[in-house]
Amino acid sequence: MSSTADRRYHITTFGCQMNKADSERMAGILEGMGFQFTEDPEAADLVLYNTCTIRDNAEQKVYSYIGRQARRKQQNPNLTLVVAGCVAQQEGEALLRRVPELDLVMGPQHANRLSDLLEQVFNGSQVVATEPVHIFEDITKPRRDSKVTAWVNVIYGCNERCTYCVVPSVRGVEQSREPQAIRAEIEELGRQGYTEITLLGQNIDAYGRDIKTTFTDLLYQIHDVPGLERIRFATSHPRYFTERLIRACAELPKVCEHFHIPFQSGDNEILKAMARGYTHEKYRRIIDTLRRYMPDASVTADAIVGFPGETEEQFQNTLKLVDDIAFDQLNTAAYSPRPNTPAALWPDQLSEEIKSDRLQRLNHLVGQKAAERNLRYLGRTEEVLVEDQNPKNPAQVMGRTRSNRLTFFDGNIHDLKGKLVQVAITEARAFSLTGTALVEEVVGNPR
Ligand code: SAH
Ligand code: SF4
Ligand code: F3S
Repeated sequence: MSSTADRRYHITTFGCQMNKADSERMAGILEGMGFQFTEDPEAADLVLYNTCTIRDNAEQKVYSYIGRQARRKQQNPNLTLVVAGCVAQQEGEALLRRVPELDLVMGPQHANRLSDLLEQVFNGSQVVATEPVHIFEDITKPRRDSKVTAWVNVIYGCNERCTYCVVPSVRGVEQSREPQAIRAEIEELGRQGYTEITLLGQNIDAYGRDIKTTFTDLLYQIHDVPGLERIRFATSHPRYFTERLIRACAELPKVCEHFHIPFQSGDNEILKAMARGYTHEKYRRIIDTLRRYMPDASVTADAIVGFPGETEEQFQNTLKLVDDIAFDQLNTAAYSPRPNTPAALWPDQLSEEIKSDRLQRLNHLVGQKAAERNLRYLGRTEEVLVEDQNPKNPAQVMGRTRSNRLTFFDGNIHDLKGKLVQVAITEARAFSLTGTALVEEVVGNPR
């Protein structure tokens, strides 16, 4: 294998938190091989794109990035070009035909094998690794982007068959990690000074069903890890979100009161056509139960507008759900037909005009509701975990409340990074807050 000692790598990550976590592991592997990180893809000897194909525009964006590097490679044949992630898995060999300059096309299940795969590349092969495999335990040391909050995968893949979604075909079947391995990773994070973790899975409530345990049990098993102050998790599926889990979240003080539970549509017929396995009534009951146990819990979700056959009336049911539930935030998207999904083949596709009109109307309502809901923070004191400087104002730092609200306040990042600070909230916008740090008064000890 050629020497990598003075070689530089660049990774750009598209898509969800799963991809971000995979990229951190792949970066760790590359550094273990002696590569140095560079922000600038043009200065790199190895460029890796970790790609997303959830909607067509996500996929097209990837192609424009790859195209630029493929042209660079024509001038510089020593450049190593890697496409990882979900586009790689979906396209496989076809991607090599489309972009012959690529050295390695690797699906998400192969992320931990990057070093072996690159060895084959450096020995002169063009490699495609997309066959389904059992994901090897993470013996790798991720290069984590943050020193304050960390991702921890708990379950890979997805066994659902939502009729619009590419994820099961690109991420494969569910594979839960062993609780002991998860705990060991979190203990190590605690030793390294991490305060917050986010447990990750496409359908995290399904954790454990392949290894005879449950996600609720996992929360109890990891809760007392020393150093850890906050536990988050995503994404929840309404089909598996149980009262037992809600009770655990209410009982366990480190579990933050923020829940991301996508509903996708507020109409029962559309939910059925999506094969989501619940009704809007069941979804509402879950949120009611959640708010009964944790009245102030923040609730976010994902929704799709313009699913095939969606009538104006059915879309109104989505607006009604959003109006009734008052989400703290909602990720919205216009339906995008995807390869190898049933709904893409249905005849009753809606026009782009209808989809974008519905998207705009939904977004307008979401902004209004989120702003109203954020007003409840005014005058309150919130615990903020400081993550970084405010990129728009260096005199301020930014972090998140337990409910995951982005919050800004005056302060010096060098003193405050990674600290939990009590902040009096003075301003509330739709998606962020501003406040003032409370300085502890020294009672009874005047100086
Ligand atoms: N596992 C999660 C979400 C995974 S994908 C869940 O079950 O909710 C993230 C979001 O992308 C989805 O919640 C959905 O709102 C959106 N999405 C997925 N496929 C889509 C498609 N074909 N068109 C538009 N949005 C889509
Ligand atoms: Fe896609 Fe449905 Fe699985 Fe979520 S639960 S990843 S939307 S198939
Ligand atoms: Fe995209 Fe793959 Fe995540 S398609 S949303 S990167 S699972």
